[in-house]
Formats: sequence, C-alpha cells, structure tokens
Amino acid sequence: MIWRAVFYWVLATVALSVGIALILAIQKSGSVSVPDWPNAVRPGDLSPKHAFLSNQCETCHTPYRGIEASSCILCHAGDATLLARQSTAFHATIQSCSNCHIEHQAGVRPIRMDHDALIAIGRKSQLADSRSAAPREESLDCFACHSNRSPHRDLFGKQCAECHATSSWKIAGYQHPSAASTDCVQCHQAPPSHYMGHFHMISKRVALQEHARVEQCHLCHQTDSWNAIRGVGWYKHH
Ligand code: HEC
Ligand code: HEC
Ligand code: HEC
Ligand code: HEC
Ligand code: HEC
Ligand code: HEC
Ligand code: HEC
Repeated sequence: MIWRAVFYWVLATVALSVGIALILAIQKSGSVSVPDWPNAVRPGDLSPKHAFLSNQCETCHTPYRGIEASSCILCHAGDATLLARQSTAFHATIQSCSNCHIEHQAGVRPIRMDHDALIAIGRKSQLADSRSAAPREESLDCFACHSNRSPHRDLFGKQCAECHATSSWKIAGYQHPSAASTDCVQCHQAPPSHYMGHFHMISKRVALQEHARVEQCHLCHQTDSWNAIRGVGWYKHH
C-alpha cells in the first residue's frame, strides 16, 4: 500500500513537471515509447519469471484501471498443475489475482498465500449478490481446500478452523499426550495395510506383538515416529 501511495505521488509529480505530452505519448504507443518512463515509476524489479515483461508494463497494467485479472489470465489460463491440486483449484474461478500475487519485490517469488485476500474477494462477490457481509474465517471452507493435507483423516471432523488458524498448521502451546498414553487410537487412524493380511504377516511379527489388536497402537508404536517401532527400532516396509 505504501508503494501505491508513492506511485500516485510520483505519477502526479511526473505529470506536472513533464507535462501532458508524456502521458499522450505513452497512451499512444505504450510505455516503451518513452524510454525512461518505466524506470521512473516502477516501484521495484519484477520477479525473475516476469522479468521478460520489464519493458511491457501494459501486459499487466491496464491504463486507468490498474491490474485486471483478465491480463493475468491471458497468459495463465489452464495451468493444469495448479487446477489439479486441491488447495489451488480455486484458480479456475477466482476473479482477482494481485491480492495474493504481489509484484515488484525483486527476487521474491510472488506466491504467498493470503487467506484474508480470499475472504475479501469472497465478500466482494457476495456483497454484489446479496449485500450481506459474511463473517471472517467462518466464510472459508478449509476442508474443501485442505482435507488432503489433514493428518487426522476422518477423526477430527471437517471444521478445521475450530482448532487451526490460517497462519500455520502448528498450534501454539499444543502438547502431545504422553508417550505412555494408551489412547492413541482416539486420535490416530491406522493405515489401510493394518486392516489387511499385511498386519498379521508383517506388522505383528516385526513388532514382536503376535497377540496385539489393531486398536492397540501403543503396544507397537511410540510418539516420535510411526516407523520407530517400540522395543524394535526403525522399520520401514518396502
Ligand atoms: C507481471 C505483471 C506486471 C508487470 C509486467 C508490471 N507490473 Fe506493476 N504491478 C503488478 C502488480 C500485480 C502490482 C500490484 C497491484 C496492486 O497492488 O493491486 C503492481 C503495482 C505497480 C505499481 C504500484 C501502484 C499500483 O498500481 O498498485 C506501480 C507504480 C507499477 N506496478 C508500475 C509498473 C511499471 C512502470 C511496469 C513496467 C516497467 C510494471 N509495473 C510492470 C504487476 C506487473
Ligand atoms: C505476457 C504473459 C504473462 C502475463 C501478462 C503474466 N504472466 Fe505470470 N508468468 C508468465 C510466464 C511465462 C511465467 C513463467 C512460467 C514458468 O516458468 O513456468 C510466469 C510466472 C508466474 C508465476 C510464478 C512465479 C514464480 O516465481 O514461480 C505467477 C504466480 C504468475 N506468473 C502470476 C501472474 C499474475 C498474477 C499476473 C497478472 C498480474 C501475471 N502472472 C501476468 C507470463 C505472464
Ligand atoms: C487467495 C490468493 C490467490 C489468488 C487470489 C490468486 N492466487 Fe495464484 N496462487 C496462490 C498461491 C498461494 C499459489 C502457490 C501455491 C503453491 O504452489 O504453494 C498460487 C500459484 C499460482 C500460479 C503458479 C505459480 C507456480 O509456482 O508456477 C499461477 C500461474 C497463478 N497462481 C496465477 C494466478 C492468477 C492468474 C490469478 C487470478 C486469476 C491468481 N493466481 C489468483 C494464491 C492466489
Ligand atoms: C480456496 C482455498 C483455500 C481455503 C478455503 C483455505 N485455504 Fe489455507 N491455503 C490455501 C493455499 C493455496 C495455501 C498455500 C499452499 C498450500 O499450503 O497448499 C494455503 C495454506 C494454508 C496454511 C499453511 C500456511 C503456511 O504458511 O504454512 C494453513 C495453516 C492454512 N492454509 C489454513 C487454512 C484454514 C484454517 C482455512 C479455513 C479457515 C483455510 N486454510 C482455508 C488455500 C485455501
Ligand atoms: C480437534 C482439533 C483439530 C481439528 C478439528 C483439526 N486439527 Fe489439525 N491438528 C490438530 C493438532 C492438535 C495438531 C498438532 C499441532 C502442533 O503440532 O502444533 C494438528 C496438526 C495438523 C497439521 C500439521 C501436521 C504436521 O505435523 O505437519 C495439519 C496439516 C492439520 N492439522 C490439518 C488439519 C485439517 C486440514 C483439518 C480439517 C479437515 C484439521 N487439521 C482439523 C488439531 C485439530
Ligand atoms: C489427544 C489426541 C492424541 C493422542 C491420544 C495421541 N496423539 Fe499422536 N498426535 C496427535 C496430533 C494432533 C498430532 C499432530 C498431527 C499429526 O501429525 O497427526 C500427533 C502426532 C503424532 C505423531 C507424529 C506423526 C508424524 O507423522 O510426524 C506420532 C508418531 C504420534 N502422534 C503417535 C502417537 C502415539 C503412539 C500415541 C499413543 C501412545 C498418540 N500419538 C496419542 C494427537 C494425539
Ligand atoms: C502389532 C503392532 C502394531 C499395531 C497394534 C499397530 N501398528 Fe502401526 N505399524 C506397525 C509396524 C510394524 C509398522 C511398520 C511397517 C508396516 O508393518 O507396514 C507400522 C506402521 C504404521 C504406520 C506407518 C505406515 C507407513 O506408511 O510407513 C502408521 C501411520 C501406523 N502404523 C499407525 C498405527 C495406528 C494409528 C495404530 C493403532 C490404531 C497402529 N498403527 C497399530 C505395527 C503396529
């Protein structure tokens, strides 16, 4: 936002001192027609992958209207990798880009996630429809974008925001239950292999626990890693 203020201040000054001729020249044949104009108003170098556009400001900036999603989409529509991944599939329909993809930060790659921007964009389109402002994080469907990331599988439900904020998956002050706990199964789901022949033929034998039932995770597992088998050591089945 500081850059925006600086930009308009610089633009006003430039307009006053150089005069309307400059503006007309730029408008007529693009920013390249006045060699130093881009450097005079550019707030910082473009990110490395956009550096090739350094003399074509108009590819992103529409005169009088600023950054429009349509400019970005022209080059980026149909990015299969992006659309295939759960958390970024929203790119198929999002109508604004520069909220998250901040440019002109030189070496910084412009790919920081901004959930507040997501809320703002959602609210804008909802306001247009129904004039009702949705509450903040509650308006986000965390599960729709992140269920694939959840280590809890089906155990903790779909309301991720009851426990998580958007800044980090870590929870400040969270302490894992004691390694002596026997309740592991309340919070952890065993992998599918534990419900197949593999469990009897491999897992039980490896753990030297021939009589253990699947729900008795604590007999075979510890809290540092699922592959550090209790009393046996590191084991990874290939
Ligand atoms: C790859 C796309 C892209 C190109 C090319 C590009 N910019 Fe930008 N520029 C952006 C984005 C994104 C923003 C942030 C806009 C916002 O905050 O809404 C921005 C912001 C700015 C700002 C701050 C004011 C504002 O509108 O927010 C200025 C000034 C600016 N650009 C100048 C330039 C100049 C001069 C060039 C050519 C040398 C250029 N830009 C080329 C994407 C681009
Ligand atoms: C003239 C075409 C063009 C325009 C306009 C354009 N880009 Fe790009 N953009 C590219 C190319 C080419 C790459 C590099 C792709 C690659 O290497 O796979 C790129 C890379 C990116 C990346 C990845 C950056 C990185 O460091 O990995 C993002 C994010 C991106 N663009 C977003 C945008 C946004 C948002 C806009 C509009 C403000 C925009 N682009 C405008 C062509 C364009
Ligand atoms: C709410 C934030 C947000 C908005 C709005 C948004 N993006 Fe993104 N975009 C991201 C994030 C975060 C990533 C990086 C995801 C990752 O790889 O971790 C990304 C990745 C990308 C990439 C791929 C970058 C790469 O690594 O190759 C492109 C291209 C891109 N966005 C273009 C766009 C365009 C075009 C728009 C507007 C139509 C847009 N984005 C709107 C957050 C956003
Ligand atoms: C429209 C899709 C979308 C929604 C809805 C969404 N996120 Fe995200 N979130 C992303 C993307 C994209 C990223 C960055 C790439 C990634 O981590 O997959 C991200 C990253 C995160 C991160 C990692 C932050 C970091 O820097 O390590 C957390 C934590 C997170 N989201 C929590 C949430 C929570 C909690 C909600 C619900 C309140 C939520 N998200 C809603 C798309 C979304
Ligand atoms: C009942 C509370 C609760 C709910 C609901 C919940 N989580 Fe968690 N989650 C936790 C706790 C506690 C941790 C461990 C935090 C720590 O280590 O700081 C965690 C850790 C995580 C981690 C980090 C795992 C790692 O170590 O890298 C991710 C990712 C995660 N949760 C995603 C989700 C998603 C997605 C949802 C919704 C589908 C969700 N969680 C719902 C309590 C919850
Ligand atoms: C009250 C709930 C709860 C109980 C009981 C519990 N855990 Fe956890 N455990 C979590 C949460 C939440 C996380 C962090 C999210 C994740 O990685 O699953 C976690 C993480 C772990 C991890 C790290 C996973 C990884 O991939 O880094 C291991 C290993 C683990 N627990 C083993 C155990 C064992 C063994 C027991 C029983 C002795 C146990 N837990 C009991 C909630 C619990
Ligand atoms: C009889 C001992 C035993 C019991 C009980 C048991 N496991 Fe395991 N588990 C193992 C062994 C051994 C491995 C190592 C590789 C294998 O056998 O597939 C393993 C592997 C795992 C892995 C890692 C799989 C991978 O892909 O590397 C997870 C996660 C896991 N167990 C979770 C659980 C949970 C949760 C429970 C309780 C609900 C549980 N286990 C009960 C012995 C056991």
